[in-house]
Parts: sequence; C-alpha cells; structure tokens
Amino acid sequence: HRATFTLNPAFTVARIDPRVYGSFLEHMGRAVYTGVYEPGHPAADGEGIRQDVLELVRELGVTLVRYPGGNFVSGYRWEDGVGPVEERPTRLDLAWHSVETNAFGLNEFAAWAKRAEVEPMMAVNLGTRGLQEAVDLLEYTNHPGGTQLSELRKAHGVEEPHGIKLWCLGNEMDGPWQVGHKTAEEYARIAAETAKAMRLVDDSLELVACGSSSQAMPTFGAWETTVLEEAYEHVDLISAHAYYEEVDGDAASFLASAVDMESFIENVVATADAVRARKRIAKRIKISFDEWNVWYLRRYHADPPTEWKQAPRVIEDQYNLTDAVVVGSLLIALLRHADRVAVACLAQLVNVIAPIMTEPGGPAWRQTTFHPFALTSKYARGEVLRVEPESPAEHTERFGDVPVLHATATREEDGSVTVLAVNRGLTESVELDVDVAALGDGYRVVEHLIIADEDRFAVNTAEQPDRVTPRPVDGTVVADGRLRGVLPPISWSVIRLT
Ligand code: AHR
Repeated sequence: HRATFTLNPAFTVARIDPRVYGSFLEHMGRAVYTGVYEPGHPAADGEGIRQDVLELVRELGVTLVRYPGGNFVSGYRWEDGVGPVEERPTRLDLAWHSVETNAFGLNEFAAWAKRAEVEPMMAVNLGTRGLQEAVDLLEYTNHPGGTQLSELRKAHGVEEPHGIKLWCLGNEMDGPWQVGHKTAEEYARIAAETAKAMRLVDDSLELVACGSSSQAMPTFGAWETTVLEEAYEHVDLISAHAYYEEVDGDAASFLASAVDMESFIENVVATADAVRARKRIAKRIKISFDEWNVWYLRRYHADPPTEWKQAPRVIEDQYNLTDAVVVGSLLIALLRHADRVAVACLAQLVNVIAPIMTEPGGPAWRQTTFHPFALTSKYARGEVLRVEPESPAEHTERFGDVPVLHATATREEDGSVTVLAVNRGLTESVELDVDVAALGDGYRVVEHLIIADEDRFAVNTAEQPDRVTPRPVDGTVVADGRLRGVLPPISWSVIRLT
C-alpha cells in the first residue's frame, strides 16, 4: 500500500485547545479509592495522595480532569464530600451498586488537581437534584466569602475559592440507565434554567449541556436539537460520549472506530449550526467530547456488580496493542476537528477503563493506551494542519470501505511539525509519502516513534509493565521535499520534523 498527503502551513483547521487532552475521574470502582487516593500506601503522602499515580498523571500530559462523574454524579450529594472526614456519611451509590464513604470529595479533588497540574472540570447533579443544589455547590466552590456557603468552605479549611470555570450540566441525561433520566424536553428546561442561575452566581463560567451518550442512541440528533432550541443562548458547549470495542474478532471495524467518532462530531456540529441559523445567533456551540475510549462494555453488561462493596473492581479493562492503536486513532479524529472540539476527556484516568493501573498497596503502571495519549499531548500542539490522506481502502463490516491511512499533522509557532498516522490495515504495510515542500527548506526527521507489535493482543501488566512501549523507527527521512517512511499494519506513529 502507498499513502500520500500534502502538508501546507497555509491550510489549517484551527489552533488546538489544550483542553482536548483531558481525562476523567469518577467515583467509581477503584478510580478514587486505591487509585489516586490510598492512605497508608507506601507512595502516599500525609493526605493519602499516591505520588506514584500523580507522577504518571503528569507524564500522561493530561491538561484537565472531569469530576465526580459520570453516572455517579446523578445521585450525588456534594455536601457529603466536604467537612470533617469522620462526619461524612457512607451512602449507597445507585449508579454502580457500590458503597461510597465520601472520604474524598470536592476539596480533596481540587487540591489533587492543583498538584497534578490539571484544570478541574465539575459536573452538577441534574438527576436526583436540580437548580438550587447546583447553585449552592457553585457558591461553595467559587464565591470568595461573606455568604453561608463560601464561609462554610473557609471553615472547612479552604480560604481561597477554587475558581472552577468549566461545568457540566448533568451527565448522560438521555440515557435510560441514568438515575433521574429525563426526556429531551425535561432536560432542556432544567439545563437552560440551571445555566441561567449558575451564570447569575458567576458570569465567567463555561457551561456544557448534555448531548448524546453515543451516536447510536435512538434519540440522537433530536435530543441535541431540543436541548439547543431551549438552551443555546445559555451554554457554550454540548457533550458527546463514545466508547468502542472489538466485537467477535472484527478487528477491521474496530480499527476503523474513528469513522464513527468523526461522523458523530460532524453530525453534532451540523445540528448545532442548524439551530444557530434558525435563531440567528453569532455564537457557535463547541463540542465537549467529555467521555471517549475503548471500553469492553459487553463484558460489563454480562457481569455487572451485584454486591454492595466499597471500591470494587469494576471495568478494569486490560488494554492490548490494538486498543492502543485505536486510542491513537481517536485522538487523531479529535484533532482533525479541532475547529469545533474544544474539550475532550479520555474516560477514565486510573483503574476504571484507564491508561494508568494500580494495585492496592502495590505498584502503578502504564497500560498500552497510555503511550499514544502521552505522546500526542506532548507533541501535537499549536495548529492542526489540513490533511487529506489518499490511500487504498480496506473493507469493514461496520463502516464499508475505509482508507487504511488515518492521519493528521500539527505545527507549532517555532515551525516544528508533528505527523500522527495510523495504519488501520490488518496485514499490509503502508509506504507513507508526504509532500512537505510547502513547509520550507531544511526540514529533517527528529524522530519517528511507533506503537506496533507482532502480537496485536500484547498487554502491559504489573509484572511486565513495559511489554508494549513506543519504539524508535529508523529510515524515516525527508528528502527532495518529501517525507518518506513505512507504517507496519495495526500501528500508530508519531513523526516529528524540525
Ligand atoms: O465512564 C463510565 C461511564 O460511562 C460513565 O459513568 C457514564 O457517564 C458513561 O456511561
């Protein structure tokens, strides 16, 4: 196979919003407890924060973390998680059939986020609760002082307001599984009114309305239309969620998952812009793709939690090489739409469908999916260049014929260029041949790193944490205005030029 495209700095998509390299920490399974927080662990500090995990979060290059859910937030009382720990109630978490001790809450999360050097993104409960509780939480979180709830925060030892700017108006309210699930009309009203009231507390907020939990939802499209007809003026972003898995050994369709993600983004953009046109509003709604990942959801549905346990092992998917290539491709999909995707969260961060795994009392390690995320966040910065790849297509059950090459490229102010490329083909290498003449003279390849393996099911474990890691590739060069290199089948590459 031969694949080509042209890089020209005159043709760009948009500047990358660094918040596309976000992640997600839900009160679910072992994400918080024995994940980021484990008092008594040898690597934990006086506050119970695991330093080994914190270091991996920084290395992952995460810019933003969404909290506290997820389905969890739709039954959550935020007051349970603040104040003296010994007075906090233990509750049933209906979303995940778990026991929540509330030992970790808003103030612990905000302190952790500061140390992890990430921007916090909060969600309010619009499932079992409503406008008043959202406004109360905001007053507690962001108001400087002199009111009951801001003074309560200070009494809890947090003098300065947290200043959290980005807020989700509920979570997956279109999903029948959601505690307090709503029809589009019901949700549209509560989202619009909650947004208006939250802005009266703090007019600097950025607000995210719930979109669809996947493009396959029966209400997809109609949901976004109804919500935006009501709430367009009051929100800045609409969410999208998507999880992908390999079904019945159909690797070709799985490797083409980005086809679904890109059409999802384009369809939400079209829907939002249609409402905009009807309303004659200048503002454009952006997308917060605040949950995306590979998730073996069928396995969860086959064996959901049945006992009431604290921090149980839930959806601790072990990711293989193929999963890492798909994650890399999904990142390419997000970047290719950088003009409209302003926020995105790899769901999730630790232990629960996560790039970082831990054992209680034991080590922390990087899953295969850690690597494409970390390298993309590190090197794909600045502007996204418009890339129109041409390559042979391979047939997939789910998406028909799909080009084997999936690619994007970015350029920073200093002129350095990063090419991200996936060979989605199962058996054949791709000879990449990129016209880079328009970038100017003197470009050379700094490095070509690849995630590929003879065993597409290879995984990283506590015992073998570095079984799958990025490897340098020799022989990728720029000559006569062309970048040439080879991409093996089922591989993800980052090629850096200066
Ligand atoms: O990330 C796991 C779950 O997936 C989240 O709680 C929910 O929002 C989604 O269905």
